[in-house]
Amino acid sequence: MASEDYFDRVASQWDAMRQSFFSDSVREKALALAGVVAGRTAADLGAGSGFISEALLGAGLKVIAVDQSPAMIALMREKFSAVQDIEYRVGEAESLPVADASVDYAFANMYLHHVEDPLVGIREMVRILKPGGRLVITDLDSHNHQFLATKHHDRWLGFDRGEVAKWLAEAGLSEVAVGDIQERCTSDSESGADSASITIFAASGTK
Ligand SMILES: C[S@@+](CC[C@H](N)C(=O)[O-])C[C@H]1O[C@@H](n2cnc3c(N)ncnc32)[C@H](O)[C@@H]1O
Repeated sequence: MASEDYFDRVASQWDAMRQSFFSDSVREKALALAGVVAGRTAADLGAGSGFISEALLGAGLKVIAVDQSPAMIALMREKFSAVQDIEYRVGEAESLPVADASVDYAFANMYLHHVEDPLVGIREMVRILKPGGRLVITDLDSHNHQFLATKHHDRWLGFDRGEVAKWLAEAGLSEVAVGDIQERCTSDSESGADSASITIFAASGTK
């Protein structure tokens, strides 16, 4: 099963799954790191069922939510049907359906480890940022839990923080920082033989 099919299939259960993986404070820390200001525009890449988007809307931002999965986007449309300040776009990491230099913030939570070429994905995030805009990626540190590749279609078993910092700088960002946010992502393998508790990093930079 391809990653798109997997996320289409689990879309309706994603909120509950997500709650079992990591806590709401991940998004609070991501927004704080970006220094979000109400009235500005943010992109939520690999938005899923809207974990980051929901917090951005709550903080008074306008949101462009992008995901490869039509089922995830449909779910968000329903969830936020009463909200005006959000646009939805089905699209791919390698060619985001968002104009150059059009957003003040670009967020991606638990998205990069699904992207085929992470540096290309980061370059796309930087392309859509306005000069002075902030990028924040929250994702998994390197780990050895192979079952996540089969059970949840993770393409990468996390990332080395030094490599992520190098990618952000290569993509043209300044003020690059990759650090710990005192959060973990937990999941058990289907057989119960393996149990993951993986630290989460936050990577940020300014265009
Ligand atoms: C692990 S989920 C995270 C969802 C959400 N950000 C959250 O924190 O709950 C990853 C999301 O990224 C999307 N995704 C994965 N690879 C993608 C790609 N190459 N382009 C666009 N979206 C992608 C999936 O469809 C899925 O909704």
